[in-house]
Amino acid sequence: MAASPTLAVSVWRGTESGHFQVFEVPRLESQTVLDVVTYIQRSLDPTLSYRFACRVGMCGSCAMTVNGRARWTCRTHVARVAAGGRLEIAPLANLPVVKDLVTDMTPFFDKWAKARGRFQGGATRKDDFARVAPASPQRRLAEAGIECIGCGVCYSSCDVVAWNPDYLGPAALNRAWTLVNDTRDTGNRERLKAVAGDAGCHACHTHMSCTERCPKQLAPTASIAGLKRAVTVAVLKGEL
Ligand code: SF4
Ligand code: SF4
Ligand code: FES
Repeated sequence: MAASPTLAVSVWRGTESGHFQVFEVPRLESQTVLDVVTYIQRSLDPTLSYRFACRVGMCGSCAMTVNGRARWTCRTHVARVAAGGRLEIAPLANLPVVKDLVTDMTPFFDKWAKARGRFQGGATRKDDFARVAPASPQRRLAEAGIECIGCGVCYSSCDVVAWNPDYLGPAALNRAWTLVNDTRDTGNRERLKAVAGDAGCHACHTHMSCTERCPKQLAPTASIAGLKRAVTVAVLKGEL
């Protein structure tokens, strides 16, 4: 059966309270969900707010909830998700809504800071470059999580964040684990303290949604398991 020439697209309008508004959008070949949102804003309703930058899966700013699942809209083809020619597009879950499809990422990045997700070096400009062997186990562990671009897809997919708004969440904890394994960093004691609390790594229930949905194929669940082990070892050694 030939695909319908139009898509029925329900788009969230408003802030925390609002409603879905339905638009009819022409269906095109190789169309992405971001193309659909852009068409609506440019051709049907210029007051629609949404966010994007690179359109090629580099910046992560186009993340939205598409038919109930967090995704990068620029890398999501309509043909893959719009069964029956229907799309429902909403802002990312677990974050305050600024307007329409735009979320406020402040709580997400505040947690990144709370988890001590900032590199804390100990070298001075007089020191030589640090050499970290590419094949060393710690370098490999750090590299496994370093490609995170802070898009919020994992955070928005995590049930524990939904139940416990204080939970640091998969991205911040993945970042903490990346730095724990960075041999140049000097902030690990404070970092492990920061992630050891009630809202830290032990709150993760290993649901795996973060790992299943990360568009960069990272595995925050494995990073969080690493943090749990590191915290336990630090406690046993009397370091925390
Ligand atoms: S871990 Fe993946 S899904 Fe989560 S913020 Fe980083 S890139 Fe996005
Ligand atoms: S594995 Fe942990 S952090 Fe990831 S979605 Fe599940 S509860 Fe959240
Ligand atoms: S617009 Fe940059 S990842 Fe989608």
